[in-house]
Amino acid sequence: MDQLVSNTTVHNDISYHIHSQTNPLLHEQEGPMVVVRGEGAHVYDADGRCYVDAMAGLWCASLGFSNKRLIAAATKQYEKIGFYHTFFHRTSDIVAELAETLVHLSGMESGKAYFATSGSEANETMVKMAWLYHKVKGKPEKRKIIARMRAFHGSTIAAASMCGLPFMHREYGLPLPGFLHTTTPDPYHGPAPGQSEAAFVDSLIADLEAMIEAEGADTIAGFIAEPIMAGGGIIVPPAGYFARVREVLQKHDILLMADEIVCGFHRTGNPFGQDTVGMKPDMMSLAKGLSSSYFPISAVVVHGKVYDALCEFNRAGGVFGHGFTNSGHPVGAAVASEAIKIYEELDMSTHVRAIGGKLKQRLAAMAESSPIIGEVRGAGLMIGVEFVADKANRTRFPEEQKVGGTFDRIAFKNGLIMRCMGDTVALSPPLNIDDAVAEEILEKFESTLHELTMELQ
Ligand SMILES: Cc1ncc(COP(=O)(O)O)c(C=O)c1O
Repeated sequence: MDQLVSNTTVHNDISYHIHSQTNPLLHEQEGPMVVVRGEGAHVYDADGRCYVDAMAGLWCASLGFSNKRLIAAATKQYEKIGFYHTFFHRTSDIVAELAETLVHLSGMESGKAYFATSGSEANETMVKMAWLYHKVKGKPEKRKIIARMRAFHGSTIAAASMCGLPFMHREYGLPLPGFLHTTTPDPYHGPAPGQSEAAFVDSLIADLEAMIEAEGADTIAGFIAEPIMAGGGIIVPPAGYFARVREVLQKHDILLMADEIVCGFHRTGNPFGQDTVGMKPDMMSLAKGLSSSYFPISAVVVHGKVYDALCEFNRAGGVFGHGFTNSGHPVGAAVASEAIKIYEELDMSTHVRAIGGKLKQRLAAMAESSPIIGEVRGAGLMIGVEFVADKANRTRFPEEQKVGGTFDRIAFKNGLIMRCMGDTVALSPPLNIDDAVAEEILEKFESTLHELTMELQ
């Protein structure tokens, strides 16, 4: 890129632009990374430096950064119509087709799909649907939502309230009343010394039951969970966890809402994360991989019983009082439909299991000989590597040492984009990476690990 253009971008960005999840003062000092181009799993900055983006942006660009078919699908649809909406009975052919595809893929009995534009909106929509469901069933006081500590569910007010991360709350006086957080099902740090996996699950279920008991089951509408936590540090729940959670929820007439925003569309080596962890939700939110993030589109797929409640509520002629201008945007629907076709043609879950398995195995081999890797975990192409001060006792490094952040910084210098969540670093690359890209990620990971280990000595 022309140096002058680049300097102008840096100037404008520092002067006029507020960034998400960025320290504003540090940004003023250090300025942005100006991303100018993408090619497969690689991105290029304004100085021509190439990075392998092992996070697919934000767990989202599942088909990389330059997929010609997705670009063509958007272009073709834009040529037909630049925008239309879905209020007042309006639709587009491609929107109706995508709804059918999603309901079919979800396996949700008598399901229906609703469209929005972001993951946060999809999660907010699920909360409203849960409230409406119980209201119709004559229990309007069932409104509280249980999420888990360390969960990430988005940035709008209810979605942020469902997050179990203090940095999402502290500036805003959140969570809102009625948004509760139960124990994280973290098999690495959660169990007491010597506690078996089954006993750990028992303790998680006891915590959930105690919360329901203390709050009153007739005040609780829903329980929201990612099948595998992404932003919380790649937390794969212990075996049997979701089956037991489901039992408890059913007993108390509490709806199970799956946040499939990261896990959905093959990320975990199955079409949906719920298939990987044995979760059977009443509704699910989708975004990111839905369109490989080439267009801001999200969706909620609900069980027929939730849709029936919506109908019942409006039996007298009212309308579903909800909607976003860009819900069911035809271009988003065209991109998402094409992405889903590509996933099917590439037999994406099988590919993800194979290549993710290789990556995990090689990282686990590095962990064996590393004094600081405590655990390599995850499923498919959603892998976390956790650094610890003492492997035998699973003791964390002091927070102020920022070991994960240091890894991130060194990786970036080495042309590898990863993401740290505390001292866990995540790998969530585009799903269609080949062996050569996997090898490049591993090589850069290994040299970064070596440099980090030296820095810590
Ligand atoms: C699990 C999960 N849910 C919800 C969201 C929110 O999605 P959005 O940023 O599109 O609102 C995210 C975003 O990273 C996410 O990881």
